[in-house]
Amino acid sequence: MTETIQLHDKKFVKFIPSSQIDEAITEVAQQLNRDYQDDPPLILVTLNGAIVFAADLLKQLQFSSVLSCIKLSSYQGTSSTNVMKTLIGLNEDVKDKRVLIIEDIVDTGKTYETLVELLSEKGAKEIRIATLTMKPDAYKLDLPVHYVGITIPDKFVVGRGLDYEGLGRNLNDIYQLYTE
Ligand code: IMP
Ligand code: MG
Repeated sequence: MTETIQLHDKKFVKFIPSSQIDEAITEVAQQLNRDYQDDPPLILVTLNGAIVFAADLLKQLQFSSVLSCIKLSSYQGTSSTNVMKTLIGLNEDVKDKRVLIIEDIVDTGKTYETLVELLSEKGAKEIRIATLTMKPDAYKLDLPVHYVGITIPDKFVVGRGLDYEGLGRNLNDIYQLYTE
């Protein structure tokens, strides 16, 4: 039996069960514990979507890190190119520090690229990313995506922090847009 939900005008169908997501998060946490134990990074969470993944992930980390948040938003200019706007900026000094970005999803990579540019400008020593989900078919960059929970097809999803026009972030399972 498939389970569907309605958010605004769209229907979504259950796609990834929460048990599988929890397992993926534990695997990412184990990789981070292995790689960062001796030299912990500054953890940079991207608002709003990544807070749900970050909360689950951080509880499983065995090293002490400073946590900071940043909020970017893609802004549609008059041309077709997407420009990123900083809605809440970086208020932590990243100079000569290792930085670990926490994301809910890496889609085209535009957000990630913007963060890498910003952190490089501010002198970060090392920049890596841990993302709950990634759409490899949509990804347009050469930059490595270091820690990936679950790779998904290039279709719109909600749940675990991911939203459709503000809704769906609280869903424990991940749902995919239902197309008839
Ligand atoms: P980017 O293309 O990698 O920069 O991703 C841009 C942003 O689009 C992400 O941070 C998400 O907020 C949003 N996004 C991309 N794909 C999805 C999706 O399937 N569901 C919900 N939000 C998405
Ligand atoms: Mg987002």
